Amino acid sequence: MATRTCFSTFLLLVVALESIIVMGITLPQCRPIVANDDDQIQFALNMEFLEAEFFLFGALGKGLDDLAPSLTQGGPPPSGGRRANLEPMIRRIIEEFGSQEIGHIRAVTQSVGGIPRPQLNLSAEAFAATMSRAMDTKLSPPFNPYVNSINYLLASYVIPYEGLVGYVGTIPSLSLVASLLGVEAGQDAVIRGLLFERGDETVSPYGLTVANFTNRISEFRNQLGMCGVKDQGLIPSADANSLSYSRTPAEILRIVYGTGNEHSPGGFFPRGGSGRIAMQMFQ
Ligand SMILES: *[C@@H]1O[C@H](CO)[C@@H](O)[C@H](O)[C@H]1NC(C)=O
Ligand SMILES: *[C@@H]1O[C@H](CO)[C@@H](O)[C@H](O)[C@H]1NC(C)=O
Repeated sequence: MATRTCFSTFLLLVVALESIIVMGITLPQCRPIVANDDDQIQFALNMEFLEAEFFLFGALGKGLDDLAPSLTQGGPPPSGGRRANLEPMIRRIIEEFGSQEIGHIRAVTQSVGGIPRPQLNLSAEAFAATMSRAMDTKLSPPFNPYVNSINYLLASYVIPYEGLVGYVGTIPSLSLVASLLGVEAGQDAVIRGLLFERGDETVSPYGLTVANFTNRISEFRNQLGMCGVKDQGLIPSADANSLSYSRTPAEILRIVYGTGNEHSPGGFFPRGGSGRIAMQMFQ
């Protein structure tokens, strides 16, 4: 009898544990939203704008307003972007990424319609704030993404990866999304590769290595996303088609707003994202 009670208690425990695990994956803040494909693809444009402007400014000192003004659909110019002090090879790569982003925004705009470029904050201060939070310490002097290649790559590791997971969260089987995903995954792999090569280098003057930074940044993204571990540092990147790495729009906004709250804009999007999905969340 005692054994049976014990066994049923054990069974109950297993069932309880299982439902906790199941609840864990369907926590309200982690559920996929109900939205049509066009809205979801347009949502990803927010991240494309952020990447496009950050890459173009970093490489060239100018952005969409100079290079492809019609794509901005009248959205306000970004604040605080500037030409970064990059090694020639890195500058060429980043310029290429910027051109790819222009191509993405154009492709999405032609296929499902564009959205106005959201207000973006690309200032060194916005990156410093995010990086200090990620590193869980007030970095002094404040982190500046524009001063050298390592800092720029670390900053690229903070944001553009969200462009990739943003698409994985949509419908990967749509051919447009599939092709954009391929390019985003390629960019992510290149940035990871460049950082991985430099993993043991010190990020001056903080006395921490590149690997220290990337590990913390990954933890931080998981923390703000609040839906479990979806980011594992410089371990070879997730397969672009692996849904295990997908994030919902709300998770992405919690990260890029830096507030941990999709209803409360801030960080790189001081007035919030553009398009139906993002705007509904802060209204
Ligand atoms: C950009 O972010 C910095 C740091 O948080 C802030 O001081 C600045 O006012 C922001 N600029 C805009 C246009 O929101
Ligand atoms: C930085 O990385 C080294 C080597 O992996 C580790 O021993 C050290 O604890 C890390 N420091 C911080 C602050 O994370």
